[in-house]
Amino acid sequence: MTGSIAVAVIGAGAIGRTHVETISRTPGVHLTAIVDPAPGGQALAQSINVPCLPDTSALVESRLAQSAIVATPNETHLPIAAILLRAGLPVLLEKPVAESVESALRLIELVDVTDVPLLVGHHRRYNPVVCAAYEAIQGGALGHLVMGTVTNSLAKPANYFEPVWWRTPGAGGPLLINLVHEIDLLRHFFGEVANVQALVSNERRRFQVEDTAAVCLTFADGGLATLCISDAAVGPWSWDLSAGENPARFPANEVSAHYYAGSRGGLSLPDLRLWKPPGEPDWTCALVPETLPYKPADTYSQQLLHFAELVRKGGQPRVSARDATANIIVLDAIAKAAMMGQTMAVDLSCLSRPCAGKANLGRES
Ligand SMILES: NC(=O)c1ccc[n+]([C@@H]2O[C@H](COP(=O)([O-])OP(=O)(O)OC[C@H]3O[C@@H](n4cnc5c(N)ncnc54)[C@H](O)[C@@H]3O)[C@@H](O)[C@H]2O)c1
Repeated sequence: MTGSIAVAVIGAGAIGRTHVETISRTPGVHLTAIVDPAPGGQALAQSINVPCLPDTSALVESRLAQSAIVATPNETHLPIAAILLRAGLPVLLEKPVAESVESALRLIELVDVTDVPLLVGHHRRYNPVVCAAYEAIQGGALGHLVMGTVTNSLAKPANYFEPVWWRTPGAGGPLLINLVHEIDLLRHFFGEVANVQALVSNERRRFQVEDTAAVCLTFADGGLATLCISDAAVGPWSWDLSAGENPARFPANEVSAHYYAGSRGGLSLPDLRLWKPPGEPDWTCALVPETLPYKPADTYSQQLLHFAELVRKGGQPRVSARDATANIIVLDAIAKAAMMGQTMAVDLSCLSRPCAGKANLGRES
């Protein structure tokens, strides 16, 4: 497949608009349709002169697009992706891959059976800061990763919670919506999670879904991490409010939100400050800091370029449905750990089972 790829954006809400803007500044792709039943979708489509379709089936029938970005509420990810995959249209599916482990496993089956590319939108993996950190960690700059600390204070405005799904367990909440990014990044750096412990609270907002959580992770190779997240707590110490990935939506405060400490050095992000001892590690000796170099790049655009490459040539998505499902399995264990007050093991064995090869290609029930 050569030439510019025709992309539709399904869901013209907050992140859908980011994708529309990203398409407009990314070479090799162009927007051919928006799908959204709400008036906002129609208005956006009119303003940029593309057709607006009421649903995904209408998009498939229209043949307007060669691929689609799905940026709709979590519980719609599986049914919408299913329609696209069955029609042979490659999908860039927003995170979380699905609202539940069951839906995510169903999606993996569909990807396996249809053999159509599906990339999950864990966009941070394309952030050049993350790429530089990954290279430093893999290259041994920190030695063996021992511990990680992630803070995520991102007080959201009251009107954010007007749509009911943002307040609904299994659909909204900072674990599924925001912590999934942190889990993905920690797995990227540390490897798979073995056990989790967690506390959650809805004390501040009094919704059914949590507003705050404190989580501990044990990684399979023995590293430990703590994560503290709240959509009711004010503070700049979160990735979204410091990394500058989406300047149109969020300010970029000059603070760190992630701290990684290994047997030979420590690294904070997103400022990429690496701290090393002058000799053997000794807490009485001053550490020597340096800022690791990286080449700034537009994170969402990098993700889209990778997606376009998958549409053109196929290949392995940088974040596959299986990979993203591991994040959901960790989140599921976190929810159970919080509910039961127990340490929960993370069982990823369902991801290594081969697909049954006869996934129902009919409609989702
Ligand atoms: N990668 C990121 O940084 C990032 C950031 C924000 C949200 N997200 C994810 O993107 C998804 C959307 O989040 P949002 O904040 O943009 O939500 P939003 O509520 O702002 O927008 C959702 C849009 O989808 C539309 N919609 C609902 N059902 C639809 C359907 N069946 N077909 C077509 N359109 C439909 C709604 O009308 C709305 O316009 C969620 O899965 C969320 O987790 C990712």
